[in-house]
Order: sequence, then structure tokens, then C-alpha cells
Amino acid sequence: SQYTEQHRPSFHFSPESKWMNDPNGMVYYDGEYHLFYQYYPDSTVWGPMHWGHAVSKNLLTWEHLPIALFPDENGWIFSGSAVVDWNNTSGLGKNGKPPLVAIFTSHSSPGEKAGRNDFQTQSIAYSLDNGRKWTKYPGNPVLKSPGIRDFRDPKVSWHEASQQWIMTLAVQDHISFYASPDLKTWSHQSDFGKASGAHGGVWECPDLFQLQVPGSKETKWVLLVSINPGGPNGGSATQYFVGSFDGKTFRSDNSPETTLWMDYGRDNYAGVTWSDIPKADGRRLLMGWMSNWQYATVVPTEKWRSATTIPRELTLKNTSAGLRLISSPVVELEKLRGKSSKIDAQKVAGIVDLSAKLGFPAAQMEAILELELPNDSSADLGIEVSNSKGERYRVGYNAATKQFYSDRTQAGKTAFSNVFAEKIHVAPRLASGNIVRLHIYFDRASAELFGDDGATVMTDILFPNEDYTQVKVYAENGTAQLKSGVFYVVKSIWE
Ligand code: FRU
Repeated sequence: SQYTEQHRPSFHFSPESKWMNDPNGMVYYDGEYHLFYQYYPDSTVWGPMHWGHAVSKNLLTWEHLPIALFPDENGWIFSGSAVVDWNNTSGLGKNGKPPLVAIFTSHSSPGEKAGRNDFQTQSIAYSLDNGRKWTKYPGNPVLKSPGIRDFRDPKVSWHEASQQWIMTLAVQDHISFYASPDLKTWSHQSDFGKASGAHGGVWECPDLFQLQVPGSKETKWVLLVSINPGGPNGGSATQYFVGSFDGKTFRSDNSPETTLWMDYGRDNYAGVTWSDIPKADGRRLLMGWMSNWQYATVVPTEKWRSATTIPRELTLKNTSAGLRLISSPVVELEKLRGKSSKIDAQKVAGIVDLSAKLGFPAAQMEAILELELPNDSSADLGIEVSNSKGERYRVGYNAATKQFYSDRTQAGKTAFSNVFAEKIHVAPRLASGNIVRLHIYFDRASAELFGDDGATVMTDILFPNEDYTQVKVYAENGTAQLKSGVFYVVKSIWE
């Protein structure tokens, strides 16, 4: 059977072969979640970009489909989004069926090579058969470059209040908003961000959407901005802003100096959310690219490169610092749970080896632990997965520093990059209190931590020379009370 190669994730999406980066054009239509992705079918490293394509009916299992968009006279097909044009504002629909419209960046390689500054423009394509066949719009590009080299990754959505399409575009060191009545003509509305948030790298792959404020009827607008490099633990990462948007201008609720990160791990980049999730569902669902431009092209997989994160639901939470973004694994993932093992409540002092008790290997596993710390504890607690070669990965919480952390410095292969395993990754704790919750998905070559019910998130990839078999819970420099613990085998989505 397929998807059994070394390091191949078993419950994450990855292309059958060759190079993948950002998820693109995520849209739900007629019972299918579409996933397009930056794809180069001729190599396992980045090159002339296409949109690969897959669909899912359940957010879990994926059907690979033929490449949706090929490079054309306007350039390579860079990142972008897709929408259902329900009211046929574009006029591209036919016989009452709304068109799916993809909005993407055309990247002209000759233009770039010639030293021009206007080689990134925005184009559209449409489909009248549930995303199988795509036709490029003859009037492309629909948005020309103002002469700024980084001018890309359009994320489009329908703005109900002002009855127009809004394009959120990454422009070097800020976001530009454009508006359109028909997806074909765009006018500049405003800019945001030159002096806000993190600026350690180029701004890319934005997203803009509304979320409910918990305990009220109010909604807020969330602006996601991926940035490369300049992430909190190095390289690529995704920051966010919470504020208001009136169809023209985005205003952040926080001071310009405030920087908020969606994920503190090294490997969740370019994540954006699905468009057109039915109102009856109402969730905001995201997947990111589970890699980092620091080493993405040299990670030790042979047939393919990269996977997406698990699908996550985004919500807002009231905290003393203001509204913050929470990421949770989508509830659908519970359907992949296989054999389980409950751990008895117990005091943890040192290392507790659970491998024999579990009776299943640690490679593809979901762990949910609730640990209580004594007052004024400085304990360091967490989960360690390891193999017979002595390779190990640790993810946990350090009460002395009040930080979650992940440690892949001894997790397996590291020689392919001198920054991959250079340091332990840390993330400030957003929640408070003596009870720490660790919810982690391990999938052979990745670990995704949702700490304190998704208040602090860390996503890492790792490359053990042999799949992890053992799992331990530990508390060092102090003790902790394990209040509850359960481990599940996570079944493969590719069988
Ligand atoms: C982000 C990114 C995008 C661009 C795409 C090219 O990872 O650099 O800004 O559209 O990748 O593949």
C-alpha cells in the first residue's frame, strides 16, 4: 500500500510525490472541501509553481485530483484563494450554476529576471464543474502591479455589509485591501501594517475573517499574516491581528508594538482558512503548510516534500490581555481514534515510562494529558517520545519560565540543515492557573501541541531514523500530579 515510506505522515495530507508548499484556494462547495496547493510536479524542490488539487468530503481522507492550474503567459501560479460566486457577480456562471473562482498571483519569471519590479500580478480562473476543469479568464491579469516586487497571495471574501468582494493582499511589509463588484475589476481601499506587528521578514499569505466574541453577539475581524523570516523561533511563522474592518479599513485593537503569533512552532506557515463553509456549520477552519523556508527544500524525504498541518478550528478567547486566537484540532479527527489507553491518576516525579502500558507504538498517536502543578512550582513537565536508537522528542511546559517548549535537538536526522535543530523552541503561556493541559498529535514526522486547550500552539516536524516506539511522561525539577491521561492510536487516512 502507499504512504508507507519513511517519514510519510499517515493522517496528514501530503502529495503523492514531488514538491508542495502553501495550501491554496481552500473552498467548500457542494459537499467537498477543496484543497489546492503550491506544487512543482517535476522536482522535490521549489520551481515553476502549479496548483495541485485534492478534495475531501470529511476533512480527513483526501482524494488526489489532477493539477488544476498550470503556468501560463502571465507566469507561474503562486498562492491565492477561491470563492463560490453565488450571485454570479462575475458573469462567469452558466445555467444558474455559480462559478468557483480562483484568485491567484501570476509570477512572471522572465519579468523578475529582467530586473523589473512589476512581475507579480493577480489573475483569476473559473470552474463550472465542481473544480475539476479550470478556465483562465481572458482579461488576466485583473490587478496589475504598482511596481512593488512582493505583491501577492490574494485572499478574497464577500463582505456582506458593503456588498462587495474584498481582496486582502500581501505587499512586502504591509497588507493592501482592494474591493471589487465582480472579481474582475479591483480598486485599492487602504493599507495596514507598515508599523504594526512583526517585521523581521516579508509579509505573505494573509487572511481576513470574522469571529464571534465569546459571550456576546459581537464579532471581531482577524487578520492573519505569514512572515518569512522573523518567526518567534526562527524562520517562517504566522502572526495575527484582532480588530475591526468596515469594508475599507482594518484597525487593530492592539498597540502597534503588540505581536501575536498563531503558532510558536517552526512548522506552521502560510495557513489560511476555508471559504464558504455553510452557515449551519459556521466554523473557521485552517490548515497550514507544515514546514519552514529555512530548510523546507532539504528535509530528508525522498519521494515528496512537505505535508499540511491537521485541520484546525479557530476561535477567539477573552483574556486579561484582550482577545486572543485559539486553535483547536477539528472534532472530525476524533473519528480517526483507534485503540486507546487510559493512564491512572498519579504523582509524577521524574520519568514514567508508559510504553508497555500503552501497548502501541508512539509514532501515530494522540495524547491528552491534564497535569496539576503545586503552587510556586518550577517543575519542567511533558511528554517524551523516543526510539531504540536513543533519539527523542520532548514537548512540555516549564513552570519556572512559564513557557511551553518543544525540543527536537535529539529527535533524529539533523545534518541536512544547521538551523533545524539549533535550539529548543519556546512559547509564552497565555493561560494561567495550576492545571496545564497538553493535547498533542504525533504523526511519525511531526508533533502538534495544543497547550491549554489551544491557547498556546506549537507545530514541529522531525525526522527520527526509526519511528518512535516509546512514550514517557516526565516531571523534573519538581513534581506534578497527573489528573488524567489518555492516548489513542490515530488511524491512517490513506488505507
Ligand atoms: C509563501 C510563498 C508565497 C508565494 C508562494 C510561492 O510560502 O512564498 O508568498 O505565493 O510561496 O510558492
